[in-house]
Amino acid sequence: MKIISLIGNRPQFIKEAVLCEEFKKNNINEIIVNSGQHYDYNMADVFFKSLNIKKPKYNLNVGSGKHGGMTGKIMIEFEKVLEKEKPDLVLIYGDTNTTLAGAIVAAKMKIKIAHVEAGIRMIPKNMPEEINRVLTDRISDFLFCPSKKSVENLKKEGIAKNVFFTGDILYDLFLKMKNEFNLTTFKKLKLTPNKFILATLHRDYNVDNKEKLEKILKQLNLINKNIPIVFSLHPRTKKRIDDFNLNKYIKDLTITEPLDYLDLMGLLINCKSVITDSGGLQKESYFAGKTGYILMPDAGWTELIDYKYNFLCDENNLFQKVSQKHIFPNISNLYGNGKTGQKIVDILKNNL
Ligand code: UD1
Repeated sequence: MKIISLIGNRPQFIKEAVLCEEFKKNNINEIIVNSGQHYDYNMADVFFKSLNIKKPKYNLNVGSGKHGGMTGKIMIEFEKVLEKEKPDLVLIYGDTNTTLAGAIVAAKMKIKIAHVEAGIRMIPKNMPEEINRVLTDRISDFLFCPSKKSVENLKKEGIAKNVFFTGDILYDLFLKMKNEFNLTTFKKLKLTPNKFILATLHRDYNVDNKEKLEKILKQLNLINKNIPIVFSLHPRTKKRIDDFNLNKYIKDLTITEPLDYLDLMGLLINCKSVITDSGGLQKESYFAGKTGYILMPDAGWTELIDYKYNFLCDENNLFQKVSQKHIFPNISNLYGNGKTGQKIVDILKNNL
């Protein structure tokens, strides 16, 4: 069996760490293709090193760009790879432009597609990630769902064949790497455990609009007067803050470059709570037992909202929500048992 895994952005590199090891354990021939959507050292290479991910055989080097151009470039280059390698399956993760590009090319070449993190749905329907995930699910042959809700979402759309509730691959990684989380970062930043908030922000609807971004940064400033905020700055957000001349609003926050997984998790398990619009970090905050304040109009991980592990916020009420007292409910087992990677590989072995 020959599998091609197409990855290209930070969250996909991280998730690949789990399946790459599982494929190796099972002697499955896996070729990694990196689209190059993320290319800065600390958005890409760092993860291959720290999480011991096999070197990609191909790098499509597409870099940044508009949605159509980026997706198109990945498709053109990925098609050449598939023509050459003729794999039995293409494996893709999540909801990025890399995901959709890989799915379209494989489907047209009649190569089977496995979608890891299938069935997540969110409002607004026109957000790029929602478009990517709906279309990808529609043409995938194996749909690996991280939550029960994602299985239900697919069912509502009439997708039931080869839909598997596998649990969440990020939970595998969290358990696997727990002992290696870097516990020195908060000390270097002169912070006290449980006395700081970890924040990240990168969604287009939060950072691409000046007025909205300014309001969010003002709210962060208000919170920072009570408890220090560590703000790990995504390159997209940094660029917008520069373009919109909003640097005055971040000068009092503790700013870091985008962090390596082990550094970010080290900060996470020591922080008091999390403010984020990252799909991954909202689940990781739950794994770590920290309340998450989610700057999104809707969350794909609705169970975390229902059970009050996470709270939806916006640019007007963030300070107010973070200031309320929230007790973290006892941790239930929402995302499987940490054996998602093994389950996915077993299903593929039995069905291909
Ligand atoms: C992408 C995904 C998003 C995912 C996120 C994780 C899409 C549509 N979005 O969003 O689902 O949650 O990755 O981070 O695929 N940039 C750099 N260096 C890099 C990468 C990006 O400077 O290594 C800057 C560029 O200015 C670029 C901008 O960030 O234009 C946005 O990058 P892009 O890959 O388009 O989207 P993300 O916001 O990272």
